[in-house]
Amino acid sequence: MEKIPVFKPLLEAEELNAAEEALRMGWLGMGKYVGDFEQAMLGVLGAKDRHAVAVSTGHAALHLGLLLIGVGPGDEVITPAFNNIADFQAILATGAKPVFCDIDPVTLCVDLADAESLVGPRTKAIIVMDYDCVLCDHDAVAVFAERHGLRVLHDGAHALGSKHRGKMVGSFSDITMFSFDPVKTITCIDGGMLIVRTEEEVRRLHEMRLIGMGQPASVMYQNQRAWTYDVQQLGFRYHLANLHGALGLAQLAKLPIISETRRASCKRYNAELGQLSDVVVPKTDFDDITPFLYYIRVPAARRDALRIFLAERGIDTGIHWQPGHWFTLFRDCRRSALAVTDQVGHEVLSLPLHSKMPDQVQQRVIDGVKAFFA
Ligand SMILES: Cc1ncc(COP(=O)(O)O)c(C=O)c1O
Repeated sequence: MEKIPVFKPLLEAEELNAAEEALRMGWLGMGKYVGDFEQAMLGVLGAKDRHAVAVSTGHAALHLGLLLIGVGPGDEVITPAFNNIADFQAILATGAKPVFCDIDPVTLCVDLADAESLVGPRTKAIIVMDYDCVLCDHDAVAVFAERHGLRVLHDGAHALGSKHRGKMVGSFSDITMFSFDPVKTITCIDGGMLIVRTEEEVRRLHEMRLIGMGQPASVMYQNQRAWTYDVQQLGFRYHLANLHGALGLAQLAKLPIISETRRASCKRYNAELGQLSDVVVPKTDFDDITPFLYYIRVPAARRDALRIFLAERGIDTGIHWQPGHWFTLFRDCRRSALAVTDQVGHEVLSLPLHSKMPDQVQQRVIDGVKAFFA
């Protein structure tokens, strides 16, 4: 019986051709395809008034995004404890501390009232994250940030291709980041991107992603480099390479079919599994959403048994996530009671979701879950 993984990248002739072409081009560092990928992203987002800066991972994007808005030692950044480790580590990497707020029990995104109770004199920013197929209320986030004088880093790693009140994620927030790691909706093996508002922010990010070197991107995007330049600020080796840019471009061109097929699979999961009394499915019709993963919530006491039951049928499952305060490194972080996060952390289970997932493959997953609860 073929194993069904939780994630499966959609790698077809287009990606193989793009990779071959990029390698044949012979310019392996940051070059033409990286610039093209950034421009293509702005086109897809409908955000020509914004700027895109590609980097090596989503984690690098988070780290640079925080540095860009001046987060540093002594500062605090509020974020849901129900978020990715990359977000927590990016905060630590700046010298600041994460402060964990709770999530809304229905959307599983930031609970702004709870976040409000944690705002203090050291709070510099808030990271909000769209958990998979339900987005944050970003209008309320903007009002919250304005009220407290905070910058917003919008983690859109799960939400590329999704729309919030008619606007593409990435086109409206203070700063947005995306990830293109191997399991993401579109992948370039590893990669990330920041969407920012001003040319000054772009200039700083261009330097920070290239160990501080003042190399003009316009030169590098012609597969050339300058040999003399200044170094004015702290930097990291966080740039994206040409091969990855080429893969990102090839994947981005397929976003419509990726969105359509993932959305259809999620609708089917909701229709089939939503009937089970022990299963809570995401509360959305998936319209305007490009789902990254498909999760259900099941009684905490039965989750492990369900995972084993499915594994025995060749069906892999995942847990997104263990909350931040459960980890040794973050257990002493300032936080609220996190009652919802603790409950959801024990209940949540990711089921296989692939682009162009064949019906019979998905049926095996649905049958497996139904058989367990029968
Ligand atoms: C919500 C979220 N933010 C950030 C990241 C980090 O991205 P990357 O793996 O590209 O570093 C991930 C990765 O899974 C994620 O899920």
